[in-house]
Amino acid sequence: MSDPSDEALALATRRGLPPEMLYLREEYPRDRWTALPEVAAFWLQMHAGFRGHQAHMDGLVSQWRAGGDIRDLHRQLIPALQSFLQHLDGHHRIESGQYFPMMRKIEPRIGAGIDLLDRDHDVIHGTLDTLFQSGLAFHQAMSSNAPDAADRAARLADTLDAGAPQLLRHLEDEEDIVIPLIHLRRDQIR
Ligand SMILES: [Fe+2]
Ligand SMILES: [Fe+2]
Repeated sequence: MSDPSDEALALATRRGLPPEMLYLREEYPRDRWTALPEVAAFWLQMHAGFRGHQAHMDGLVSQWRAGGDIRDLHRQLIPALQSFLQHLDGHHRIESGQYFPMMRKIEPRIGAGIDLLDRDHDVIHGTLDTLFQSGLAFHQAMSSNAPDAADRAARLADTLDAGAPQLLRHLEDEEDIVIPLIHLRRDQIR
């Protein structure tokens, strides 16, 4: 049975977390996120890395769309994409596999919020698969001088465009739950 609130909380459409999932951030708001516990600081650092990585790939795509050489796009974007896919997948595995189960136990009240973040990971995982396939198709087309290389590049670029807002939404919402939780329950989370 589908809950009518599911749609409002879907990664593709929501504009942030609902109030009942923001009580931790209310207790420990963003403007006080200084001198964070090491785990929280590292978490934010990882997220900053993903935002930077996404922006870097967006920049490469923009240069190509503005008339740049497709060979430059290929040479720079493929390794950037490989590294992005690998790191993001690894990050999500650690979150969903280790930290989220621990956080559920420590803070049962945020269970629905953790469910939402896990669902986000599933959605993003689908995007990462599509990115992988699009990247591979572009790479193969370039390697074999295929006439449709530009089409493949365009498809990859469109997939990157489509995935970016979802990733950025997820990173921000996850921080709103995880960073205050780590701070407020710092005796239990290391
Ligand atoms: Fe995540
Ligand atoms: Fe994360």
